[in-house]
Amino acid sequence: MRIVLGVGGGIAAFKVASLLRLFTEQGHQVNVVPTEAALHFVGQATWEALSGHPVSTSVFEHVEQVNHVRLGQEADLVVVAPATANILARSAHGLADDLLGNTLLVATCPVLFAPAMHTEMWRHPATQANVATLRAHGAHVLDPDVGRLTGKDSGPGRLPEPQAIFAAAMALVSAPDEAHDGGSAGALLAGKRVLVSAGGTQEPLDPVRFLGNRSSGKQGIALAAAARDAGAAVTLVAAHVEVALPAGVDVVRVGTAEELREVMTREAASADVVLMAAAVADFRPAERSGTKIKKRAEGADPVIELVRNPDILAELVRLRAEEGREQLILGFAAETGDDSGSVLEYARQKLERKGCDLLVVNHVGESKVFGQDVNSVEILSRTDREMQHVEGSKNLVAEAIVHRVAAELRG
Ligand code: CTP
Repeated sequence: MRIVLGVGGGIAAFKVASLLRLFTEQGHQVNVVPTEAALHFVGQATWEALSGHPVSTSVFEHVEQVNHVRLGQEADLVVVAPATANILARSAHGLADDLLGNTLLVATCPVLFAPAMHTEMWRHPATQANVATLRAHGAHVLDPDVGRLTGKDSGPGRLPEPQAIFAAAMALVSAPDEAHDGGSAGALLAGKRVLVSAGGTQEPLDPVRFLGNRSSGKQGIALAAAARDAGAAVTLVAAHVEVALPAGVDVVRVGTAEELREVMTREAASADVVLMAAAVADFRPAERSGTKIKKRAEGADPVIELVRNPDILAELVRLRAEEGREQLILGFAAETGDDSGSVLEYARQKLERKGCDLLVVNHVGESKVFGQDVNSVEILSRTDREMQHVEGSKNLVAEAIVHRVAAELRG
């Protein structure tokens, strides 16, 4: 495959050398097209040595090869990383004042932007509008990671890890035909209201402590973004998450399972699809101290009594029946399997118990799943004994789930 790797002028350009390596080691031909600014961070020699091709930023070099048109025309995939605020702005408006700008304007293949910038720049309405424009033009724009930025600050704006960009890029070009049956993702959920829960709930013990879990919210957030890209109006109910919230969806923040239940119950009343990806605490402390629990010099250490939280998914299924709603409900299951049953046996039982239409089953354990960028799941349906195996980046899994949901809605 011929890949054009556009490199923007950001400090994260150094990580893109590893991304380039991932592409070349798979046997792909990569032409690196940096911006002038990018060469302040990583020089031309590095890109030429790693890609094995001459590198230029200008339309006026190697003019006889008409590179400003040829590179874009011949590419099977264009990846831009780091996609700075400036590149997103230029590309959204079709500016072609360097070789990368021309290439992006000519390319008709899949285009993936991996943004990296400071949080303020990412959140600026101008950048968000440019991202929305690029997506409307059919480009794929990843959400940046959350974490330490160039200085001492941290927040959304980190370049996603090279492995995650690589997985997203491969998913774009290998977008499975069966996943795309019935049309492009752009129209699959048009006119539908999709409600997604994501992240882990936190159950307070006192004003400074809580019981939580290891969910990063990545899969739920990827689902919200995939549903948005499929044309749905998306409401994302986000508990504790460790990745940036996606643009172009309505977000409601919650803390506890009780808060999640309240918002989900309210929002589900008008949703066509409910995707319950949140990691809900099954138990909460029976008592919540209004003041910080102190160590005492004398007397016993505190014992925490737990009480059951409501099963929100099962409640939503019950409410749907009571109110006669036409609604598709999807749950997640994290299973390990044990001596009494396999992962899939437990998952089938859970599907029956919860009464939802689809269940996405994660194999957990041995540091699989939590916080990782890749996932391996089975999708189980109540109406179909066949299960669907999906493996890849959490974005790819999200796209597959969205396609499956759309297929179920079509009947
Ligand atoms: N869920 C929920 N409310 C809860 C617990 C879980 O809505 N109190 C939802 C999750 O969002 C997920 C599904 O139920 O979609 C499965 O959650 P999981 O914790 O795997 O299953 P449990 O029903 O809690 O069963 P067990 O812990 O016994 O495996």
